[in-house]
Amino acid sequence: MCKKETFYITTPIYYPSGNPHIGHCYTTVACDSIARYRRMQGYDVMFLTGTDEHGLKIEQKAAEKGVTPKEYVDEITAVFQSLWKFMNISYDRYIRTTDDYHIETVQKIFKELYDKGYIYKGEYKGKYCTPCESFWTDSQLVDGKCPDCGREVTEAKEEAYFFKMSPFADRIEKLLTETDYLQPKTRAVELVNNFIKPGLEDLCVSRTSFKWGIPVTFDTNHVVYVWIDALSNYISALGYKNEKFDEFDKYWPADVHMVAKDIMRFHAIIWPAMLMALDLPLPKHLAVHGWITFNGQKMSKSLGNVVDPFILGKRYGADAIRYQIMREMALGADSSFSNEIMINRINSDLANGLGNLVSRTVAMVEKYFGGTLPVERESGEFDDDLICTATSLKKSVDGYMDKTQLNNALAEIFKVVSRANKYIDETAPWVLAKDENNRTRLATVLYNLLETIRIVSTLLSAFMPTTMTRALEQIGADEAAATYDNADKFGVLPLDVTVKKGEALFPRIDVEKEIEELNSIIKNNDTESEETKKLREEIEGVAQIGIDDFGKVDLRVAEIKACEPIKEAKKLLKLTVFDGVKERTVASGIAKYYKPEELVGKKIILVSNLKPAKLCGVESCGMILAATCGDDIKVIFVDDMPAGAKIS
Ligand code: MSP
Repeated sequence: MCKKETFYITTPIYYPSGNPHIGHCYTTVACDSIARYRRMQGYDVMFLTGTDEHGLKIEQKAAEKGVTPKEYVDEITAVFQSLWKFMNISYDRYIRTTDDYHIETVQKIFKELYDKGYIYKGEYKGKYCTPCESFWTDSQLVDGKCPDCGREVTEAKEEAYFFKMSPFADRIEKLLTETDYLQPKTRAVELVNNFIKPGLEDLCVSRTSFKWGIPVTFDTNHVVYVWIDALSNYISALGYKNEKFDEFDKYWPADVHMVAKDIMRFHAIIWPAMLMALDLPLPKHLAVHGWITFNGQKMSKSLGNVVDPFILGKRYGADAIRYQIMREMALGADSSFSNEIMINRINSDLANGLGNLVSRTVAMVEKYFGGTLPVERESGEFDDDLICTATSLKKSVDGYMDKTQLNNALAEIFKVVSRANKYIDETAPWVLAKDENNRTRLATVLYNLLETIRIVSTLLSAFMPTTMTRALEQIGADEAAATYDNADKFGVLPLDVTVKKGEALFPRIDVEKEIEELNSIIKNNDTESEETKKLREEIEGVAQIGIDDFGKVDLRVAEIKACEPIKEAKKLLKLTVFDGVKERTVASGIAKYYKPEELVGKKIILVSNLKPAKLCGVESCGMILAATCGDDIKVIFVDDMPAGAKIS
């Protein structure tokens, strides 16, 4: 078998100095979509993300909270990890700069650079911005203030080690101007003019003024300063100079490092210089995107204008959020975030565009053919245009993915969605349905729509994995049909395909009502709200309770004696259960999953001491236990035990 080509993609490693926000989601979701797309294309992908856990700011924040820096970062890193789980991020490796193997690599790199004469001891004087942990030269300050966050800077000086940058200036200039390392390349000019032409300054790479960092092995008063520590993650995570992994030769050089413009300089100049000094190959691409702004300012923890992705994801679904942030952001440019933009985008593209296309098509196959198409076909006007548009989509999406232009890739896909919706209007299936003689033509129109949806959903599954799996299920496409290889072919679904109606992929949002509610919950500080905390714990399944709390719950085996639907509530079934002592009524939201007759006679687990509650007119005394996974629900049956048996 021939070996798969590898593809290595990285996000920045984020500072766990505050909780993650929509800004962090952008880079991670974009990398995830690229990683998924490459996997779909058959690459052997390594997708790395992680947290950058050292530094003065962390040390200070931990002290403010009265915990150790490690305890502090453990907690916030867990929040990052549960956010990535929530957003369906398919990373292959998560690196923490406090991991032992990373520390070992950084210490060895620092020593090698020192031994080679690229690192020397000196004294650092400059203007220092504490929140950003950055020294700045006078020429970099904006109105005498930190160019990143606009705050006051102070004079500072300390003994420090420096990394010599000048030996690499020419090679770096060539890298930026003559290769396609930097995406978009237009940014090369600003880097060359601002940093290389004036003469590359040596970089301060150690600190003595704080302790929370990786110690320099040969001078333990010093800890390695942020950038050598942080940038090395891209190679330590593969096992460079450590025993933990053995994948450096397999995956290095990276195919794409993706970052926002705030850390472009470090990745465009310092990182290549470090690699040159270590005699290592350079990464292939550095993709630089702009900032998500909120009211015109960068969304950031230190500015306190962050939008909480947990809350948005819970309201609209992770996929809608993934789509919205990727659709809005052009590589290189900033994109502004507002609730209005987000909700309108979800409504127009997802609910009205794609969601509607899928639900209308599936509903028509059900209505006109009982869910299964007949095999005869009759082509007609408009077919060729639709088929040609759909089958050429993959090529153009590939082109944009190669250039990391995800917004353009999505725009192309949604052009096909619009084309398909227009095809429905052009062919008017409801008119065809009126005449028995048109059945073959009607089946053809619907088949063409299903095929177009298959292509679109397959390509979109890299961007919206959960919802597109549902879309593919609804149109009757199995895994073999929904592959990248099939995404430029027409006629893949069986001619007698059977569809399966499901819930709306993207429910339409009432814009005004929603915006009012959202505006009231946008967070204006960086502490986690109670609501987010609860949500996160739900996602993680880690809401911890004491044994005493658990002891309060009385679980009993109960036998279902009768069961019937509740007219007013489609989702509920009304169960009469015998708990060993008496019969009682329980309303349960399992109507979609079980027919009443399947349940009668079964024994289930009952939460027997739950306070009664009225559900759609039915007084429900207790709750039955079921396992849930996404859309799937399975009631837990315990048929071998008598009613009344206690679960302990
Ligand atoms: N720890 C460094 C990176 C070291 S990489 C070797 C760092 N961390 S950070 O937490 O500040 O994250 C910066 C990155 O987060 C940006 O480069 C970008 O990827 C993402 N973003 C944070 N805020 C953002 C926006 N408002 N908009 C877009 N991306 C944002 O810098």
